Amino acid sequence: TKLGVLVSGSGSNLQALLDACAQPGFPAEVALVVSNVPTAFALERAKKAGVASVVLEHKAFGSRADFEKALVEKLVSAGVEWVCLAGFMRLLGVDFLGRFEGRVLNIHPSLLPAFTGLHAQRQALERGVKVAGCTVHFVDPGMDTGPIIAQAVVPVLPTDDEAALTARILKEEHRLYPLVVKLVATGAVRLEGGRVVTSAGP
Ligand code: GRF
Repeated sequence: TKLGVLVSGSGSNLQALLDACAQPGFPAEVALVVSNVPTAFALERAKKAGVASVVLEHKAFGSRADFEKALVEKLVSAGVEWVCLAGFMRLLGVDFLGRFEGRVLNIHPSLLPAFTGLHAQRQALERGVKVAGCTVHFVDPGMDTGPIIAQAVVPVLPTDDEAALTARILKEEHRLYPLVVKLVATGAVRLEGGRVVTSAGP
């Protein structure tokens, strides 16, 4: 299964996917990395892994539809079948999602539906929750609103600051995202009629 990974920043989740794909027998490979930020460290990670990458700056396009059209073109010509958002800081609309229907994943550093959007870990600390975590979900046009596939939970400790909680969650992200990619790549998990369907394994 050919993956396209969309990034805007550090790319530690991209790294987790690259590392998983390098394991023998893993049912997916990263065919293309796309960044909307030319300085994203994720691009270095792609290069180091020998994976093709491209920068598409959303600002360079006249409209969101034009940006998404270019994005789709790059991904399709690389043979991408599934798209993983990994710290990609743009919302995707129907132009994009229509083309990759039911095949776009995102990871978010909260136990959705709590704490959508930016600074989810800070929101969790401010709200005083005692557990936090991360979520991998199918992408719909909303912000962190699509059907949930899997979650991982971590404790929130009384001594936590934003950096400590972020690091604890990120460790789980790096475990969870490759796991979910494996499930979708083998067909064990899929989206049907807006719902997540799980088939029993062999
Ligand atoms: C992660 O916390 C991810 O859940 C969120 O953005 C962050 C990206 O980190 N969507 P990285 O670029 O993968 O290191």
